[in-house]
Amino acid sequence: MNYNKKTIEDICVSGKKVLVRCDFNVPQNDEGVITDDKRIVAALPTVKYLADQGAKVILCSHLGRPKGEFKMKYSLAPVAARLSELLGKEVAMAKDVIGEDAAAKAAALKDGEVMLLENVRFHKEEEKNDPAFAKALADMAEIYVNDAFGTAHRAHASTAGVADYLPAVCGYLIGKEVGIMGKALEDPKRPFVAILGGAKVSDKIGVINNLLEKVDTLIIGGAMAYTFIVAQGGTVGNSKLEADKVDYAREMLEKAKAKGVNLLLPVDTNVTVEFDANAESKVVDSMAIPEGWQGLDIGPKTVELFSEAIKNAGTVVWNGPMGVFEFEKFAVGTKAIAKAVAESNSVSIIGGGDSAAAVAQLGYADKMTHISTGGGASLEFLEGLVLPGIACLQDK
Ligand code: 3PG
Repeated sequence: MNYNKKTIEDICVSGKKVLVRCDFNVPQNDEGVITDDKRIVAALPTVKYLADQGAKVILCSHLGRPKGEFKMKYSLAPVAARLSELLGKEVAMAKDVIGEDAAAKAAALKDGEVMLLENVRFHKEEEKNDPAFAKALADMAEIYVNDAFGTAHRAHASTAGVADYLPAVCGYLIGKEVGIMGKALEDPKRPFVAILGGAKVSDKIGVINNLLEKVDTLIIGGAMAYTFIVAQGGTVGNSKLEADKVDYAREMLEKAKAKGVNLLLPVDTNVTVEFDANAESKVVDSMAIPEGWQGLDIGPKTVELFSEAIKNAGTVVWNGPMGVFEFEKFAVGTKAIAKAVAESNSVSIIGGGDSAAAVAQLGYADKMTHISTGGGASLEFLEGLVLPGIACLQDK
C-alpha cells in the first residue's frame, strides 16, 4: 500500500470548512472524567495548524461502542471541554452529528474557529459505511482530513466513506505514525528486535507472520508464550493456552529457523496457583510449569536473556506486556523490559493499547521514541494490512 499521502500542507485550507476525523476514543471514569487525554493531545498539531491557517474546523470522532444509539455516557461533550482547555479557545459542541444543531453550528463558524460533532457512532450507518451518511458528513465541509490513526483500520463512513465525496488528505498524527512505523518496517536500523506479548496468539497471528519477514530477533513473552512452549514440547500447567494455535506456533518456530530469525521464548516463569494480585508465587523452568500452577510473568533469567537482545538493538517494536502488569507483583518482567528498551539506543516504538498503558504506568513513556495512539490499528499496520482510513486518502 502507498503511504505517501497528501497532507494538510498540500492543500489550501484557508477560509474553507474542513471536516477532521480524529480518534477521541479516550477512557473515562464513572463520573465521565477523562482519565487519559493522550489521544486528544495527539490531535492538537493538526487542529492548531488548521485553525491558524484560518480554516473553519469541524471535528468528528467516535467514543466507545454505543451501537448506533444516543447514550449520554458516550457523548463527546467532555472531549470538547478538554480540547477547549488544551487549545485555549472555545470548541463548540454540537448536540448531534448531521442534524440541525450541527448544521447551524457549522454555518456559524468563522475562520479559525473549531467545533466538534457528537459521536458518529450514534448513527448505525457510521460502522456500516453507509454512503448516504458519509455524503451527509461530507456535505458539511469542503475538505476532509483524516487524523484518526487509532481508527484507520476501520472502513467506516467517517474514516473512509467520506473520502469519496471530498478532497481527502491526512493530518500530522497519521503522517507521524505511518512515517515512524513505516520506516521501522521498510528500512529499520538493525538489529531489528520485535517484542510481542499479551494474552493471545490469536490476536497476533498476522503480526508474527509478517514480522518474521523483517526482524533479526523476535521475542515472545506474556501469556501467548505458553502456546509456543507447548509447541516446543513443554508443559504449562494451568497457564493460558490456545490449544488450537499450537500447530501455528510450531509453524512459526520453523519459519523463524528458516529465515534465520533469533526467536526468543521465556526460559523461566513466575507462577502462582491463584490469579490474584497477592498470590504466593515461585519461579520455575518455563518448559516444566507444574500441574495446578499458572504463569503470570516472565522470570529473572528471561529478563536477562531478553534484555541482552534489546541492549544492542537498532530498532525495537514492542506490542503486548510480558505478564499481568496490573498486579504489581507480576509487573516485574514488563517493567524490566520497559527499562531495557528505554536504556537502549534504539529507535523504540510502542504499540498502543495495553503496551502504551504499561509503559506509561511504569513511568517510561518519555524515554520511548514513539508510542502509537493506535491499538488495533498499529497491530494491523505491523501485519502489513491495508488500513482503509489511509488507503482512501489522495496520493502525493
Ligand atoms: C481503539 O481504541 O482501538 C480505536 O478507537 C478503535 O475503536 P474500536 O475498536 O471500537 O473500533
